[in-house]
Amino acid sequence: MVVKSPLKRTVRILLLGDSGVGKTSLILSLVSEEFPENVPAKAEEITIPADVTPEQVPTNIVDYSAAEQSEAELNEQIKRASVVCIVYAVDDDDSIDRITSHWMPLIRQNHPDTPCPVVLVGNKIDLVDYSTIDGIFEIMEEYSEIETCIECSAKTLKNISEMFYYAQKAVLHPTAPIYSVEKAD
Ligand code: GTP
Repeated sequence: MVVKSPLKRTVRILLLGDSGVGKTSLILSLVSEEFPENVPAKAEEITIPADVTPEQVPTNIVDYSAAEQSEAELNEQIKRASVVCIVYAVDDDDSIDRITSHWMPLIRQNHPDTPCPVVLVGNKIDLVDYSTIDGIFEIMEEYSEIETCIECSAKTLKNISEMFYYAQKAVLHPTAPIYSVEKAD
């Protein structure tokens, strides 16, 4: 007898963020459990089978490279994403400013009807002895679709698996409707 289990949706995680923040390194660090010294411009799309993910859901991880992809391809990938991780580098203020000046508006533009959950990821925490989280909380207050934030390091592997787990959780157990702080008159 064949027992059919119910179909589970696939979680599609797209990594966005400015050039050099470490998107490709994060993906390769997750997959190989070591920091890649030489990174290609863009990682191949990766499929993680359900049984090795914490939420037991098949998960695709998709990299983005401005050098290799057109704007049309970028928009298409944003539309297909079930969650976007916006990666910034904790030692690069410009990459933080661009979360609100560029990336969030672009994501909203490509998800006009239902908001796409977002996770903010501060990479390269090995390079600094401070935290960027206070400033990030201020951004989170402005955008209810930002589910959570995390600081990590592709180099030391700190919080790498947690980051991808948070992204899965943002799709499967979104908190936005509960914590939405839309102002009531
Ligand atoms: P683009 O392909 O240009 O979009 O860049 P990217 O965001 O994919 O960044 P990439 O992974 O190519 O990393 C850029 C540089 O940052 C490389 O020299 C990496 O070795 C370095 N890097 C990535 N993650 C870390 C980290 O956690 N700590 C440190 N110290 N360096 C890192």
